[in-house]
Amino acid sequence: MTDAMQRLAVLQGRDLPVHGGRTLAYVYDSGDPEVDRVAREAVAAYAASNALDPTAFPSLLQMENELVGFACGLLEAPGSAVGTVTSGGTESILLAVQGARDSRPDVARPRMVLPSTAHAAFHKAAHYFGVEAVLVPVGADFRADAGAMAAAIDDDTVLVVASAPSYAHGVVDPVTAIAAAAAARGVRCHVDACIGGWVLPYASRLGRPVPPWTFAVDGVTSISVDTHKYAYAPKGTSLLLHRDASLRKPQFFASAAWPGYTMLNATTQSTRSGGPVAGTWAVVEHIGDDGYLALADRALAAVDAIVACIDAEPALRLVVAPDSTLVTLATDASCDPFTLTDELVARGWYVQPQLSFGDDGPSIHLSVSAGTHPHVEEFASALADSVAAAQAAGPVAVDPGVVAFIEALDPAALGDDDFDGLLAASGLVGESADGELELPSRMAEVNAMLDVASPAMREALLVAFLDRLQRPVRGSRA
Ligand SMILES: Cc1ncc(COP(=O)(O)O)c(C=O)c1O
Repeated sequence: MTDAMQRLAVLQGRDLPVHGGRTLAYVYDSGDPEVDRVAREAVAAYAASNALDPTAFPSLLQMENELVGFACGLLEAPGSAVGTVTSGGTESILLAVQGARDSRPDVARPRMVLPSTAHAAFHKAAHYFGVEAVLVPVGADFRADAGAMAAAIDDDTVLVVASAPSYAHGVVDPVTAIAAAAAARGVRCHVDACIGGWVLPYASRLGRPVPPWTFAVDGVTSISVDTHKYAYAPKGTSLLLHRDASLRKPQFFASAAWPGYTMLNATTQSTRSGGPVAGTWAVVEHIGDDGYLALADRALAAVDAIVACIDAEPALRLVVAPDSTLVTLATDASCDPFTLTDELVARGWYVQPQLSFGDDGPSIHLSVSAGTHPHVEEFASALADSVAAAQAAGPVAVDPGVVAFIEALDPAALGDDDFDGLLAASGLVGESADGELELPSRMAEVNAMLDVASPAMREALLVAFLDRLQRPVRGSRA
């Protein structure tokens, strides 16, 4: 091993494990080391290849078209469908919104109608592309309210969105009614199946009840599905499919307005590493349809087992019964949810806290993979121990003075010094004895503080946090 590789191993040792089925957010683990070997080798073989020019790297074009072809089968796409490999769910969503906006040059102030549970990537798209996000509250079951969404569509609406499933609650929106309402007004309808698109088709085949969400639903014009989630591919790929080629047209960008090569792109990127494309293609080729059916069966069996242990624990409840592989749980007053999160993390189970939003209290998110299945009994005992520990620790108290202070602040009026003070007071950023930036090992106090902050204050604080994190390291350190 070279020094660089030794140092890389040391650095990587600080990260969450990506294998072992115990990291229940950010990563998706097939549990099969052979899948990881295939992915690693394919990524390495293509790391320097450039998908910018399909005539120079025709193998990447072939792989992309085969991936889209595979997805056409899963998403019940008609023969007219086309698609593009993007870098991730957010990029697929950005392009769906940009394409919808640019398909309607007649609309001066474009709007898109979103259920309030739509992924934050749509808010990013609204921000980037000047499309107003019209948020429609969801029903008591956390599913989009199709009637209210239909009523929110107007002459300036360029896109209507549904999730299959939503990230925060793991439920599938009523796509049939939403897409019909969009079609009735001649508006595009995008289904965000970033997280469910590679698992729901197999759930259906396994005989589980899955509400309709694919291109088989009239009025659905585009669907995003992330291969770097439940296709168990390496990070860096998602697919954006359109019902026909005319819908994709505004997504393309060409520029001959400079002296170099004519730029020609289907995504926001220009140079695109061949690594993730080849890694994804190789994993999909290796696992295949039957393999994905078996992996979905395992992931869903793990979900059932986790749901059963939540049901068996009096201090816990499911926020809503999952439609897919995402589980959202909440605690009763005896068990602080943020302490429970820390206790699970301390036992090697990474789960993701979700802050209060509107009238809904905090919750805990679990993205369950096939790789979790062999470990569900360990999870059950870690959960029981963590609940007991959180109950023994009692509630996390946020100083009422701090609450009043945070509530009174207008983030727009704060300067850098204020944020330095707030970050230190919140415990998000500390300094070690040698002046190094130090992150908290337990997050309960920080999350409890963020939980009482307004969404605008959360955003501002976390942006300030990221700004402090992203500072140059001059000279390498061990
Ligand atoms: C439903 C949904 N949409 C979009 C995204 C964004 O995907 P990415 O993080 O790959 O950009 C996610 C990510 O979890 C998601 O769950």
